[in-house]
Amino acid sequence: MNDNHSSFAKSLINEGRLMNHLDELSRIGLNPKTGGINRFSFTKEEEEANSLIKKYMEEAGMTVSIDGIGNVIGSYGQGDEVIMLGSHIDTVPEGGKYDGALGVITAIEIVHSLHEQQITPSVRIEVVSFKDEEGTRFGFGLIGSKAMAGLLTDEQLNNFDEKGNSIKSMLPNHAFPLNKWKRTNIKAYLEMHIEQGRVLENQHLPVGVVTGIAAPIWQEITLNGRSEHAGATPMNVRSDALTAAAEMILKVEELLNKSDSAAVGTVGKLHVTPNGVNVIPGQVTFSIDLRDIDEEQLELLNGHILEELNKIATKREISFSSKLLQRVTPVKTDYYLQKLLESSIKKHHIEPFSLISGAGHDAMNIAQIAPVVMLFVRSKDGISHNPLEYSSREDILTATHVLYDTVLELIN
Ligand code: HGY
Ligand code: MN
Ligand code: MN
Repeated sequence: MNDNHSSFAKSLINEGRLMNHLDELSRIGLNPKTGGINRFSFTKEEEEANSLIKKYMEEAGMTVSIDGIGNVIGSYGQGDEVIMLGSHIDTVPEGGKYDGALGVITAIEIVHSLHEQQITPSVRIEVVSFKDEEGTRFGFGLIGSKAMAGLLTDEQLNNFDEKGNSIKSMLPNHAFPLNKWKRTNIKAYLEMHIEQGRVLENQHLPVGVVTGIAAPIWQEITLNGRSEHAGATPMNVRSDALTAAAEMILKVEELLNKSDSAAVGTVGKLHVTPNGVNVIPGQVTFSIDLRDIDEEQLELLNGHILEELNKIATKREISFSSKLLQRVTPVKTDYYLQKLLESSIKKHHIEPFSLISGAGHDAMNIAQIAPVVMLFVRSKDGISHNPLEYSSREDILTATHVLYDTVLELIN
């Protein structure tokens, strides 16, 4: 299959506007030194980005509202039932330009194009920029889509960031009670997102249909040893929290390497206290991000890992505790919506290809209240959560035309 897919029927997507909007958004939170983007929830960068997408939505003929949790929702057309498009504009630390932003910007462009053609859909179309998908600040993510699916709990809102600000303290009074944000009128949710892996690139395909989304369990592990003098304390009497953490982190990697499922595990955050060169670390916290497409496997693996880490703590006489930060349900996407996407893909003379998402997405939560599907766009070298994240203009436009055609099918 050759890579050149530009020979497809042009829908009235304004390609220049789309790419300019992507560029403009990517400048908010940009670290000029690294090229990484830092746009976290409840920050001025997020506020600036939200006003920009609000402007784009209004120019596209949408009326814009922001719900109590902070989801930015553009609404187009009339009717109780909703076809929802969207993704997120928040990023991981030093993130890339396309993760999340691509889904929001292309969804707005699709509505803008319908508006310019005076196409009034038979159902309402909503474009949503979900609040805090990445979980960069408060230890867990997908906050906006959790709220929309009725899955956000009061207890989770007590989580706080590194400065001690809880989510609850950042939310407006009208955010409560949380369950009032649960939606029941979404007919279908479609999310375009970069693949963030190498599958499409290896298949030489610009787009793919996501049939399932692996989900994360996030844990925070806390180890307590004893801070002591690095010079005056003999090796055999130490209670070193960091060397215990080191053995545990390698144990997580060993167990995942040995596991015969497609599960993956990552220790991404580690905090040492008191973090002095000449002090034996008394306390260490580290995160574990565990993922699988099979919920049962995921739970079993999680339990096994905690057991093994506890054994290491006992052997080293270190105190061990774990705190569940988030547990999201892996989902299968909707078969009918997969077929709709596939027929749009075929119309553009591209071979339809299905794949599983290793990354988590807002679609996992929305799948609890509506049929969902995702359209993946090829990621160069599979790089993501990194300033080098890149998808080509041509692939982005191909994906937008494919999604546009699918939306047309759904709204007629
Ligand atoms: O963690 C994830 O999979 C997503 O990038 N939030
Ligand atoms: Mn991400
Ligand atoms: Mn994302």
